[in-house]
Amino acid sequence: MSNAQSKRISTLDLAAKKASGQKWAMLTCYEQMVAAILDEANIPVLLVGDSAGNNFLGYENTIPVTVDELIPMARAVVSATNKAMVVADLPFGSYENSPEQALVTGVRFFKEAKVQAVKLEGGKKVVPQIEKLIAAGIPVMGHLGLTPQSVHTLGGYKVQGRGEDGERIKSDARALAAAGVFAIVLEAVPADLAKEITQELSIPIIGIGAGIDCDGQVLVWTDLMGITENPPKLAKAYRNLRKEMVDAATEFANDVANGHFPTSQQSFN
Ligand code: KIV
Repeated sequence: MSNAQSKRISTLDLAAKKASGQKWAMLTCYEQMVAAILDEANIPVLLVGDSAGNNFLGYENTIPVTVDELIPMARAVVSATNKAMVVADLPFGSYENSPEQALVTGVRFFKEAKVQAVKLEGGKKVVPQIEKLIAAGIPVMGHLGLTPQSVHTLGGYKVQGRGEDGERIKSDARALAAAGVFAIVLEAVPADLAKEITQELSIPIIGIGAGIDCDGQVLVWTDLMGITENPPKLAKAYRNLRKEMVDAATEFANDVANGHFPTSQQSFN
């Protein structure tokens, strides 16, 4: 559990990893038990992503997720961990309006959930928001490429930055770096483009569907564990927990039906 002595990964630690060429992993996380497990596995950065919308809250996508829904999740992840940096997504509609709106939302995540940083989607158009947050002492992670909050503008979950469009993403990445973000997520962009941006910028670039050359890689934790039913191409399942869980629940139900649970071990005199 967190306490005054806890030493979490900081933005400086991530900058040092970039300088020394050390690659690192980030995972999404939406609740207490999983957070404790991922902290035990020494995952340096946990993202309370708005992907909670389609992985935890039962929405079709990330757009309906609200600040009030994400804050309790972020608070649980922070309180269950003491090593990882915890980053919270600013949900759709909570920062686009103005730098002042972004600051109000960022302050809520800082004070109510005690996260160490926030992430928001977009390029040059959100630079004023980023500057306002950073000036107030809130570290910001950027997110470019396939930005799921803009799925309807992008016309679906499609690879971004192919061909000449790569220049747009490069110049957005430069603008975010100049504004002071401590890292940028690049989602679903060609591997060569991600490599160029990673080599050019001095801040860590975290890939998801962006090839091998990024400084870090992020996955949605349910994709990693093989719980997601139809995972996207950019994900890799390292286990098949979906099968394990279905098997366990089926076994329990059979034991109950057959009178094999509980045994004397789970009973009291
Ligand atoms: O919300 C999320 O899970 C994300 C990652 C895919 C980077 O933004």
